Amino acid sequence: KLDQIQQRMAVIAGLQQALNDLLMNLALWSLLILAIPLVVAKAIAGVYLAFLALVILASFEAVQPLAEAFQKLGHSVAAGERLFKVTDTNPQVQEPAAPLPVPSNIPGRFSLEFEHVHFAYQSNEGEVVHDISFEVSTGKRIAIVGASGAGKSTLVNLALRFWDPDKGTIRLNGYDIRQYALGDLRGLIGVVSQDTYLFNDSMRGNLLLARPEASDSEIEQALEQAQLTAFIQQLPRGLATWVGEQGLRLSGGERQRLAIARALLKDAPLLVLDEATANLDPMTEHTLLDALDMLMQGRTTLVITHRLVRMERMDEILVLDEGSIRERGTHEQLLRSGGLYQQMVQLQEGILSLT
Ligand SMILES: Nc1ncnc2c1ncn2[C@@H]1O[C@H](COP(=O)(O)OP(=O)(O)O)[C@@H](O)[C@H]1O
Ligand SMILES: [Mg+2]
Repeated sequence: KLDQIQQRMAVIAGLQQALNDLLMNLALWSLLILAIPLVVAKAIAGVYLAFLALVILASFEAVQPLAEAFQKLGHSVAAGERLFKVTDTNPQVQEPAAPLPVPSNIPGRFSLEFEHVHFAYQSNEGEVVHDISFEVSTGKRIAIVGASGAGKSTLVNLALRFWDPDKGTIRLNGYDIRQYALGDLRGLIGVVSQDTYLFNDSMRGNLLLARPEASDSEIEQALEQAQLTAFIQQLPRGLATWVGEQGLRLSGGERQRLAIARALLKDAPLLVLDEATANLDPMTEHTLLDALDMLMQGRTTLVITHRLVRMERMDEILVLDEGSIRERGTHEQLLRSGGLYQQMVQLQEGILSLT
C-alpha cells in the first residue's frame, strides 16, 4: 500500500514539473511569435526581445516553488492531524484525584492481591483473563505457569496499570492500586521481562535509568550481584562503553543480566519476573537463575514462566490455561495430583531428554 502511495506521489511530482516546464516554454514561444514580427517591422528594438525573454523566464522562477510548497503544506497538515489524534485519545487508565501516600519501603512488607479479576483488551472480543484470584503475600514467591497466550503477561500489565480490570480488584498492601499515583505504583514494582530495552547510551546510562541518583558503589554492587563485573571489566571503556544501535551489541544473557542489575538498582520491594530467562540456552539460564535468586531475596516476587525450572522453591504455583486458573498448589502437590501441571513437567522432561 505504501508502495502504491509513493508511486502516486512520484507521478504527481513528475506531472507538476512537466506542467511547469510546458507553461514556461509556451509563454516563451508566444512571446517569440508575437514579438518577432514586431522586431522585423522595426516597431521595437532587437535588444528588447532578449530582455523580454529573460523577464518571462525570471517570472516563472518565482512561481515554480509554489507547487512544491503546497505539497509540503499537505504533508505537514496530515502529520499534524496524526499528532492530534494521538494526544486526543483518552488514556487507558486515570490518575486518582487524591492519591494515597506511597507505602514506605520496608523490605518484605509488601503484598499484591488479585480478587476476581476479569479483563478483555477489546470490549467486543472475549475475555483474556477470567475470574483470577490469588495473593502474593509479604516476602512470598508465587509462580504463574502456562502455555504462551494463556494470559500471563496480561496479569503483569494489569498489576502495572497499563490497563484496568473490567471487573474485580487488584490490591497493593490492601488498597486498590487505582488509589495510588501511577508513578508511585510503578516505582514499587521491579520488572524483569523477556525483552530488555537498551537505549542508545553508555552502559552506565542504561543502568542509571532504573535509579538516576544511584552512587558508583551501588552500581558496582548491582553489577556484582548480576554477575556482570567481569564482563564490564573487559569492555574497552568499562561502564562508559556505548551500547545500543551504534555501540556494543549484547548477547541475550548479557541483556538479561543488565535487566537484573537494573532491577537490583531500582530496589523495588515487589518483583515481577516475566519469562526473564526465556530464549536463553540452558547453561546461561542456569547461571542467570542464580543471579535472579539474589534479586528475589527479601522481596515479594511474582514469577511468570512457561519453563518449569526450580519450581520447588515457589510458595505457590498457579497453572493458568486460557485465562483461567486451573490448578494451584506447591510443586509437590501439583505433581502428585497428576493434572495439567504434571503433564507440563513430563512434556518438558521429554523434550530435555531428546536433546
Ligand atoms: N495489547 C494487546 N491487545 C490485544 N490483545 C492482546 C494484547 N496483548 C496480548 N493480547 C492477547 O491476549 C492473550 C494473552 O496474551 P498474553 O497475556 O501476552 O499471554 P502470555 O504472556 O501468557 O503468553 C493472547 O491471545 C494475546 O493475543
Ligand atoms: Mg508473556
